Amino acid sequence: MTRTGFVSEEILSKIKGWAPYADAKLGFRNHWYPALFTADVPENSPQPVMLLGEKILVNRIDGKLFAIKDRCLHRGVTLSDRVECYSKHTISCWYHGWTYRWDSGRLVDILTNPRSSQIGRHSLKTYPVQEAKGLVFVFVGDIDPPNLREDVPPGFLDADRAVFGQKRMVSANWRLGAENGFDASHVFIHKKSVLVHGNDIALPLGFSPGDPEQLTRSEVTAGQPKGVFDLLGAHSVPIFEGQIEGAPAVDGHRGSKRVAHDISIWLPGVLRVDPWPNPDITQYEWYVPVDADRHIYLQMLGRTVSSEQQAAAFEEEVRSKWIDMALNGFNDDDILARTSMQPFYRDDTGWLREVLFEPDKAILEWRRLASAHNRGLQSRENL
Ligand code: FES
Ligand SMILES: [Fe+2]
Repeated sequence: MTRTGFVSEEILSKIKGWAPYADAKLGFRNHWYPALFTADVPENSPQPVMLLGEKILVNRIDGKLFAIKDRCLHRGVTLSDRVECYSKHTISCWYHGWTYRWDSGRLVDILTNPRSSQIGRHSLKTYPVQEAKGLVFVFVGDIDPPNLREDVPPGFLDADRAVFGQKRMVSANWRLGAENGFDASHVFIHKKSVLVHGNDIALPLGFSPGDPEQLTRSEVTAGQPKGVFDLLGAHSVPIFEGQIEGAPAVDGHRGSKRVAHDISIWLPGVLRVDPWPNPDITQYEWYVPVDADRHIYLQMLGRTVSSEQQAAAFEEEVRSKWIDMALNGFNDDDILARTSMQPFYRDDTGWLREVLFEPDKAILEWRRLASAHNRGLQSRENL
C-alpha cells in the first residue's frame, strides 16, 4: 500500500503522470467542501455528514456554525447516533457522558465521573466551517484554511450571483462523477433528454477533435482556483449524424439554443458549465467524496441578478422548471453513467484497464492538474 493506504503500489506504479489522483480514492485533503445547505442546519440541531470518509457533526449556536469530529474519544461511538446536549455550548456522549465543547472540541466534563483526570486533557478534532451562497462549506484538513475563493470556480462567490439547486447521493466514487461531468464526448448519453428537446438545445452526438495541443487550457495561478478548461467545442467538428458502416444510424439535436461554450473543472472537484441549461444560466456541480463508493452530487444553477426580487424570481424558476427538466431530467443520465462505471473502477484496476480515445485528453489533463496542485491526499490514517 502507498501513501493513502487505499490503493496498491503495484497499480500506482503503472500510472504515469497522475498517480496521486489514482491514489485519491477518498478525495483531496486540506480543501473546502460544500456539505449541506444553510437551511439544513437550524439552531441547536446537530447534523451529521460524512466527508472524505470522516464522520463530522455540524451545529449552529447563536447563528454561528461549528463542526466537530462525530466520534467519541473514549470508545469511538458515533455521537450523532443519539444526540444529547445538556448545555448550549456542549455535546455529551450518550454512552458514558464525556462532554465536549462545540467551539474547541475540548473535553470539559464527564457526566459519569466528574473528577476524572482525563477532563481537560483531550479534544475532539474541530473543522473550520463557513456559509456562502446558501451552502455550508467544511474544511477537511489540518492546515490553516485558505480563502474559500480558491476552492470554488471563478465567479461563483460574486455578490451579484444568485445560486440555487439541490444535492443527491450517488453510488459511485467521486472521481467518476468529476470525469463524467467534464467528459465532453459523453453528450452522446443525453441525446434523448427531455431538456435537449424541451428547451431546444443544440446538442451534437460528440466531437471529432482537431489539434490535441489546443484541446485544453489549464489555470494554475498561485492563490487562485486551479482548473482545466475543455476547449473541445472550439477545436473540433461537432458530430450531428452518427453513421454505422457508412449508413445513417442516429442523429444529434440541431436545436436553436447555443450553450456550454465554456466547460471547466476545478479543485477539489467542481465543474462549471457556462452557460447551462439555458443561455442565461451557469451550472456548477460538486462531486464531494463521502466514502470510496459514494459522492454527494451537489447541483447549483447560477444567474447574475441586480435585486432581491430577481434572485427570488430565479429561485422560483429553478424550483418550478430547471430541477425537473435539467437537474433531474438531464442529469439522471449522468448518474446512470457514474454508477455503471463504478464496478469497473471499484478495485482500482479500471484505471489500468480503461482504453481512452482522443476526446479523453481533457480528462487526462484534469487528472494531471489535480495530481500536481491538490493540497494533500486523504489517507487511511486520517479516518
Ligand atoms: S464512548 Fe463516549 S463516553 Fe464512552
Ligand atoms: Fe452529462
